[in-house]
This record gives sequence, structure tokens and C-alpha cells, in this order.
Amino acid sequence: MVASMRPATIVVLDFGAQYVQLIARRVRENHVYSAIVGPDVTPEEVRKLNAVGLIFSGGPGSVYDQEAPRCRPEILEMGLPILGICYGMHLACEMMGGQVGSTSSREYGRVQLEVLDPSVLLAHMPAQTSVWMSHGDIVNELSPEFIPLARTDACPCAAVAHRSRPFYGVQFHPEVTHTPCGNQIIRNFLYDACGCKGDWQVSQVIHDAVEAVRGQVGDSARVVCGLSGGVDSSVTAALIRKAIGDRLSCIFVDNGLMRSGEVELVESTFRQHFNLDLRVAHAADRFLAKLEGISDPQQKRMIIGHEFIEVFKEEAKTLKDAKFLAQGTLYPDVIESGHSVGGKTANIKAHHNVGGLPEELGFELVEPLRDLFKDEVRRVGEHLGLPEEIVWRHPFPGPGLAVRIIGPVNRERLALLREADGIIIEEIRTAGWYNKIAQALGVLLPISTVGVMGDGRSYAGQHVVVIRFVETSDFMTADWVHVDYDLLGKIANRIINEIQGVNRVVYDVSSKPPATIEWE
Ligand code: XMP
Repeated sequence: MVASMRPATIVVLDFGAQYVQLIARRVRENHVYSAIVGPDVTPEEVRKLNAVGLIFSGGPGSVYDQEAPRCRPEILEMGLPILGICYGMHLACEMMGGQVGSTSSREYGRVQLEVLDPSVLLAHMPAQTSVWMSHGDIVNELSPEFIPLARTDACPCAAVAHRSRPFYGVQFHPEVTHTPCGNQIIRNFLYDACGCKGDWQVSQVIHDAVEAVRGQVGDSARVVCGLSGGVDSSVTAALIRKAIGDRLSCIFVDNGLMRSGEVELVESTFRQHFNLDLRVAHAADRFLAKLEGISDPQQKRMIIGHEFIEVFKEEAKTLKDAKFLAQGTLYPDVIESGHSVGGKTANIKAHHNVGGLPEELGFELVEPLRDLFKDEVRRVGEHLGLPEEIVWRHPFPGPGLAVRIIGPVNRERLALLREADGIIIEEIRTAGWYNKIAQALGVLLPISTVGVMGDGRSYAGQHVVVIRFVETSDFMTADWVHVDYDLLGKIANRIINEIQGVNRVVYDVSSKPPATIEWE
């Protein structure tokens, strides 16, 4: 994207904050585009991003530590409105003559805030409100150029403003839900301090992405897209279809490790509804042959990943004029890999390949979702008319049911787990729990347990199925879901009654960490 095509952007400088992506999302929820960059971003890079304001994120460091991240002093001189959050406030205040130190009476968690000056930043707020604190340092001496806007018991400068520059700072975290007026503060900054109009809307996002794809692909080249049935690749395909029509071909590799109904859903959505050139590679035999006797999870992953690339390559070769490969790379992947949206500035972390397919394929990548967060991708998907079942589906791992079958994978075990999984998903949908659970799965254990058959105890071939439901917003940490007992009972009954060979169902009540979401 060139600067002139860019939406008005709030540029978020990342000083190592745990909440940096949350800050960017909160801005976007207010219909203002945001981009995350490294702390040493240059004024020129900021201008290229079409910045209308800056947010300095929090961070774990102390500004008086040598190695703590700092921004370039010229950034403060750009004349753009700045909101410093926690460490970001400390840094800017210190750079403009204030003093920061650790406080003896630290305030962590929920703290009562008293508003002293309800002008721009703290407008439309109650005089007293609670806010969320999480740093041991405070600004204990303001330069005379600043005025305090709010205080707490232990922090006389809990919110500040510069007298003559558009700089604001808050000691607390407006981006977290524990700060009830946090969104009001962010809105005040965006709309009143930065003059944003709130014109970043889904329809505009789609329009811009379509234009960008057309610009990149041109008038004659073909694009190939690997569909997995997941939301990211599905929205990618739908967007590219909108941009270049029938010059898109999709490849769906049926590896035999999918959920029940998966292939049919993808076919009916993309072939019938979107009228797409969809090629389904029926490759279950190949995958299962390679997986025979393999128990080690990482080996399973490697075999499946490798085989996927082989099958994909063979299919792609039949598309003679395809020059581009579409991928559903999302903004968090881009941030992790250190690409700023201003180009390949790589100013956060070292580059790594965000794509799954090797460069040897010789395609140029098209990544229309690379500026979007997952919830935004879902809204785009809804807008493009993808079925709810695809837009709101839980994540499903690339290696599929293979990493949910502990021990070797074979057709019988797959059939058994597929049936159990089908029951689990059907029942949580019927009971209205599907959208309250971030990820639901069944796991097949490699052990036999005792049961009663007629009058006797039976040990032969009776399996255990685990049900796992987790709630999480980022999949890095997760908690088990306190699901309705009747629902669990109903699922367990159905699995035991309907599936030959299962006589026991258990519910996984482990959180992540230390457990993971998948069992392998
Ligand atoms: P864990 O098990 O690490 O899972 O807590 C976190 C998220 O990642 C998914 N996952 C995978 N996805 N290939 C994938 O495409 C994999 O090998 C893989 N392993 C885990 C998991 O389903 C969850 O959403």
C-alpha cells in the first residue's frame, strides 16, 4: 500500500507491552485503523503510515534502566498527538523533563481514580472511577509544562497533559476491560485529540483489500489458494474471488484427517455458493500410508506437513498460468515476524517465513488479510456472505485428528474419533454452547478400560474418549469451560451408546499452562 491509499492511522509504538495487540484492537473497534511498530521507528516511517496520532504502549521496563526501550526524540517533535500508556507515559514525561521513580506504595490491579480536570482526555467521565494499574514506577515529578488530569491515593499524576503540545499520558491501562471508562478515554484521544472520523469500516476494508489484490495480481494472472476449511483461508478465497473473479483456483487437500462433513461443507460453500474453481485432492490413502505405525506427535506433524506440500505442488502444477499463491496470513503473524505495515521495516523481531509453503514453489504471495485481526477477518467473512458455520468455526489444527488420536493413526481409530467429534460438535451447537467455547475437541486415548458386558467384566478393546472444551481469547493461555453437566452427560451417553468400542468418556479440566489445548 502507498501512503496516500492508507487509511488515517494510529501508530502504536511497542515498548514490550503484554497488551500491545489489545491496544491496536481497541483503536480499531472505534473504527480507526491502527498499526503496531517497533520502538525505534523513524519519523519518516511514521509519516509513510499516514499517522494521525501515536500511542506509546506500556512495557515491563523502567525508564531509568539502561537497556529499557526508548523512542527516537524526533518522534516527540513531529507534532502528532500522543497518548502514553504506563511505561509509554513514563518515557515521554521523562524525555520532556519529568522524573520517574519506583513508588514505595505500589498500586496493582483495580484502583480508584479521581478526575481533577475533565478536559479532552478525561471528558465525559465520572469524577470517580476505577482503573487498572500494573507498574511499580510512577511519574513523581512533572515538568512545569505538564498538568495533572487525575490522581489516585498513591499516584498524584495518574493522568497528565502537556500544556502546549498534544501529549497525554495515563499511568493505568485504558485498553483492558478492568478499566470501565477505558474505551471512553481511547475515544476521547482518537476523536477529540487526533480528530479521527471513525471511517474505517468493514465495507471500506473489503474495498481496499480488493483494490490491493487487483493492483498486485494485474489483469491476466491466475491465483491459487489452499483452502483448509478454516476461517482464514476461506475469507482469503472469498476476497480474492471478489477481486479477480474466475482467475482464482482453490486446492483443498483431503488428507483423511478431517472432521466429518468437512469436505462436503467446503465443496458446497465454494463450488456451489461461490462458483469457484475448486480442486479437491483426495489424498487420504497417501497420508495414512505415511502415518502407519507412527506414534510420536512431532513426527506425525512433520509427515503430514511434508505430504501436504507434495500433494499441493502436484495439484498446483496442473494450473499452468498460476503466478500467485494466496495465504490467510493475519496481522498477529505479521507482527510476530517483524514486518511493519509500512513495508518490510522489520523493526520488532527478526524475520521468519510467515507462510507454511516453501519458497521453492516459485509463487508470489498474496496476503489480503495481513493487516487484520481475527475478529476483523470474521466480520469481513460475514460481509462477503460466507456461511456462519465457516465464519464462526473453532480453530482446527493442520494435522487434524491425527494429533487427537494418541498413538498410531489408522482408519478404525479415525472413524471412531470422527464419530465422537461429530456428536460433540452437534450437541454443543444444539445446546447453544458452540459460540461460548473457543475450541471444542475429542481425544481418543490408546488404552482399554474395564467395562461390564452382560454379567462379566470386559477388558477387550473398549476405548476412552476425552472431551475438552476451552475458553481463551488468544490461545496462548486457556481455561477449561465450566460447561453444563447435563450437556456433558448427554454427549457422553450418545458417544457410549452410539459408538461401538467406547465405554468411557471423561472431561478434561486442565488449564493452559501447564497443559496445552491439544493433547499432543
Ligand atoms: P496448543 O495445543 O499448543 O494449541 O495449546 C494452541 C492452538 O494451536 C492449535 N494447534 C495447531 N495448529 N498445527 C496447527 O495448524 C499444529 O500442529 C497445531 N498444534 C496445535 C490448537 O488446535 C490450538 O488452537
